[in-house]
Amino acid sequence: MSGTSLDGVDGVLTRIEDHQWETLGHAHAPLPATLRASLLSLNSSGPDELHQAALASQALAVVYAQVVKQLCELCDVLPDEITAIGAHGQTVRHRPELGYTIQINQPALLAELTGMDVIADFRSRDVAAGGQGAPLVPAFHHSLFARPDRTVVVVNIGGMSNISILRPEAPPQGFDCGPGNALLDAWCELHTGQPFDVNGEWGAAGEVHEDWLQDALREPFFNLPPPKSTGRDLFNREWLSNWLASHGQTDGPQADPQLARDVQATLCELSARAIALAITDHASDATDVVVCGGGALNADLMRRLSEHLTSMRVAPSDTWGMDVMQVEAAAFAWLAWAHVTRQAGNVPEVTGARGPRVLGALYPAR
Ligand SMILES: Nc1ncnc2c1ncn2[C@@H]1O[C@H](COP(=O)(O)OP(=O)(O)OP(=O)(O)O)[C@@H](O)[C@H]1O
Ligand SMILES: [Mg+2]
Repeated sequence: MSGTSLDGVDGVLTRIEDHQWETLGHAHAPLPATLRASLLSLNSSGPDELHQAALASQALAVVYAQVVKQLCELCDVLPDEITAIGAHGQTVRHRPELGYTIQINQPALLAELTGMDVIADFRSRDVAAGGQGAPLVPAFHHSLFARPDRTVVVVNIGGMSNISILRPEAPPQGFDCGPGNALLDAWCELHTGQPFDVNGEWGAAGEVHEDWLQDALREPFFNLPPPKSTGRDLFNREWLSNWLASHGQTDGPQADPQLARDVQATLCELSARAIALAITDHASDATDVVVCGGGALNADLMRRLSEHLTSMRVAPSDTWGMDVMQVEAAAFAWLAWAHVTRQAGNVPEVTGARGPRVLGALYPAR
């Protein structure tokens, strides 16, 4: 899995038998700086896009193959013992309303480099069936975190954030809430040179500008009813620039370091508020909120989220048995398993697709 934060590639090795689930190992590789820059620029239109996308997809497949190799070494397994790799690819456009979503990927090269079957292109079948193509993780979250006696919400805070609502004896629900880490990372990098605000410490010293926040929350996406999904198509540097400009600020380095921290704090509160509003509007009966994704490691974001959800237990997924950085990668292993066993991977109630569909395409090892 390589998500919208563009921080790197997470891989997990899992064994799934008769719906029994076991995680055997986790490996991570950062994206090389040139590849990260290229993938980021491919999120908006630019010169020679097809050529740039082709090169980026090859470089990404090489990193995927490295992660697979690391995992096999770590877990002491041979390629022949692996049923399949689920390879999500890197989302560079997500426009389900226009009938497409694009994940840059080179599954043929990945199959060639690893000698393993590769399942890729998980989202487009759901979009072809009239769905959002996202989020695809609620079925997996359901298999892992649902409880027979209470409503559980799973929050994934990647570049964007999404929730899964798991009620006893009901199909899961879920949708994207808004920006997760993407805007926080962009602002932090601009002002500190660090790719993200470690533990949320830099932003924690800032003050939220409530009027700026209220203005950001007027973005129509927040009030759309589900099914809905979002990405860097909406919440990107341009969105950040326009928002700051409407308050007389530029998105360049601020002369006033306190103001830079205030913007970070306000963006952090925006991410927290978007998630909390989604939960209170759609799952006020929840007793537990399980948080996964890198945003769970941002203590300032977690504190803000807990403060808005005082009637619920808010805890990282570690306390439910799975490391916060493994959940999304495990979900794509699960989706690959669903493909191999010819089971639907989407939840029509979540994506709005016309029905359940087997997701992905197979690139055989040989
Ligand atoms: N120690 C940390 N403190 C604060 N933030 C962190 C920390 N570690 C990771 N993060 C944040 O998490 C992000 C990576 O999270 P993650 O991999 O879940 O996102 P993603 O790649 O967008 O995933 P997906 O799209 O699959 O949900 C980083 O870009 C950073 O913002
Ligand atoms: Mg990531």
